[in-house]
Amino acid sequence: MARRDEKMRLGAFFMPTGHHVASWRHPEADADAGVNFKHYVAMAQLAEAAKFDMVFLADGVAVRDAHPEALRRSAQYIANFEPLTLISGIAALTSHIGLTATASTSFYEPYHLARAFASLDHISSGRAGWNIVTSTRNSEAKNFGRETHYGHAERYERAREFTQVVLGLWDSWDDDAFMRDKATGQFLDPDKMHALDHAGKFYSVRGPLNIPRPPQGWPVLIQAGVSEDGRAFASEFAEVIFTSHLNIEQAKPYYNEVKQRVTQFGRTPDSIKIMPGLNPIVGRTAEEAEAKYELLQSLIEPIVALEILSTFLGVDMSKYPLDEPLPDLAAPENAFGSFPDGRQALSLGVEGAIPDVSIVRCGRAPPIEHLGLDGSGVSDDGVHTQYGDG
Ligand SMILES: Cc1cc2nc3c(=O)[nH]c(=O)nc-3n(C[C@H](O)[C@H](O)[C@H](O)COP(=O)(O)O)c2cc1C
Repeated sequence: MARRDEKMRLGAFFMPTGHHVASWRHPEADADAGVNFKHYVAMAQLAEAAKFDMVFLADGVAVRDAHPEALRRSAQYIANFEPLTLISGIAALTSHIGLTATASTSFYEPYHLARAFASLDHISSGRAGWNIVTSTRNSEAKNFGRETHYGHAERYERAREFTQVVLGLWDSWDDDAFMRDKATGQFLDPDKMHALDHAGKFYSVRGPLNIPRPPQGWPVLIQAGVSEDGRAFASEFAEVIFTSHLNIEQAKPYYNEVKQRVTQFGRTPDSIKIMPGLNPIVGRTAEEAEAKYELLQSLIEPIVALEILSTFLGVDMSKYPLDEPLPDLAAPENAFGSFPDGRQALSLGVEGAIPDVSIVRCGRAPPIEHLGLDGSGVSDDGVHTQYGDG
């Protein structure tokens, strides 16, 4: 096989105690990790020492909707730090690792967001990255004056205009606009300041931004769209895409398509990095890794697993007995909360977390034991993969 000369790029996708849904119960876990700043700093410093390229913080702007009994036993996406605030703190205690925070184009204002990420880029001396999401849940919309989320197409229409405004605002000042010359008394050159004067379908923003141009010019743009609209958006704007494919057969056509699509926007294929998700469970031997995995699996509460499965499938699974084959369910029309197309949800995780979604239709044993991972492109297959001598 031909060797590629480039270095492998590694991002550390932090969840408070890890991606496994029961990881907070692990005997060695910091159960309060979601609001434990020292815990995050230690993880970031470890990732930096291990030569990771970036820290990545996901986000949602609501407490996850869940049955109280499932909520009672859950730790993820319920009570944790706001990521921009957290990552600004991490910036001060690390020196060169990239710092990516998630922020939603559906619920932020572009001026706020452009200013916050420009600030992070200055604070971190050019290490900021923005994971651009459109958000997926109605529970989030309810925190921003709406009963339901925008329709899927509108989310991306808004995202496109939002991102254009943010990019325009980051260009408000030329790189050398601030001379801060004490002798002449000239702080800045107004000729090097540019108002945006944007008036579009969703946003009206005059600008300029009240912070100098970010050291990177534009912080790194990251995205994880799956749908046609999501891929079109990524092809236009993203410099990094997180993907959730679970096998190489699925991943290859996607990779080739995106690399080709970016050229339609005047970009070169290598202007975009595609980073597949992986959830490794590491041991010195396969047995040790298996044992770690089994321990985590044994900590899953069935009601939590059922709630995750219900969210993925868009069907309330709590009415089905755990120890009986599942009935033949209709193909999910609106799975994974407000995702418009159940198949996207399946490609996000169920298809891989459960070996085959037809498990639901075939009436095989309920897949509770496969639902420990959170569906971000991870598979329990990894536990069987061995590298090196160990
Ligand atoms: C690795 C990964 C991380 C993601 N992180 C977030 C996140 O933090 N917040 C969020 O609202 N959505 C997140 N998403 C969802 C995506 O932004 C996107 O909505 C989803 O992949 C569905 O694609 P679509 O929007 O094109 O339908 C993530 C998706 C993936 C694969």
